[in-house]
Amino acid sequence: MESQDYHAAMAALAWQIELGVDECIGDAPINRYEVPAAVAKPAPVAAPAPAAQASAPPVPAQEVDAVAIARAAAEAAQDLEGLRAAMAAFEHCDLKKGARNLVFSDGVPGARVMIIGEAPGRDEDREGRPFVGRAGQLLDRMLGAIELDRASSVYITNVLPWRPPQNRDPKPEEIAMMQPFLRRHIALANPDVLVVVGNHACQALLGKRGITRLRGEWTEAEGKPALPMFHPAYLLRTQAAKREAWADLLSLKARLRDG
Ligand code: URA
Repeated sequence: MESQDYHAAMAALAWQIELGVDECIGDAPINRYEVPAAVAKPAPVAAPAPAAQASAPPVPAQEVDAVAIARAAAEAAQDLEGLRAAMAAFEHCDLKKGARNLVFSDGVPGARVMIIGEAPGRDEDREGRPFVGRAGQLLDRMLGAIELDRASSVYITNVLPWRPPQNRDPKPEEIAMMQPFLRRHIALANPDVLVVVGNHACQALLGKRGITRLRGEWTEAEGKPALPMFHPAYLLRTQAAKREAWADLLSLKARLRDG
């Protein structure tokens, strides 16, 4: 391959990855603009506007207040299934377009402990369940160390229900847009305590970041006692932080025992 072709191909690949492409579904490219008319149905033709309206100035498209729409949809949900349906029907977050699945929750609705992570990764996106990849397996082991598990005693969700492309950080506007759903999720699940893992979950629920400072200090979020902890993905990279994570788990265990 000519070096120029190589660089053009690499640039095209990088561009597709940036758009969220993460797998190849066919050997040959298809130009969807050239599919025969019988397959690509033409849009129905609109009736011609009356002559008097033809010269009227265009009406500016109404700006959509996605946060207000999310708030109304979340508040209308009466139970967790209703909330899941409301989130599945929410069309204003672009992450949805690149995701395979809505990742709503896992574990036991109504459990005393509700864990809130950041956003699905590749494995979670495939399975439609939070924390099923390597970080999730570590989370399971951490919970097991204090006799908790998702099959019987914890409920798990994320700030964002759709995977950000290339696992990039959630954007502030994505967190703001999905926050009404998260709040309603907590209200409907009604746990005794929240475990808030990592900076993005702290940002969404506590309005602040700085997990190294925040972790281990009980605080309050959505009217519930809340314990910020290191994210298991961070613990996978940072062995030295496991000591603090263990202290936080013991604090959680004591709170459940005494509370
Ligand atoms: N990290 C998260 O924060 N949530 C998941 O579900 C998986 C990884």
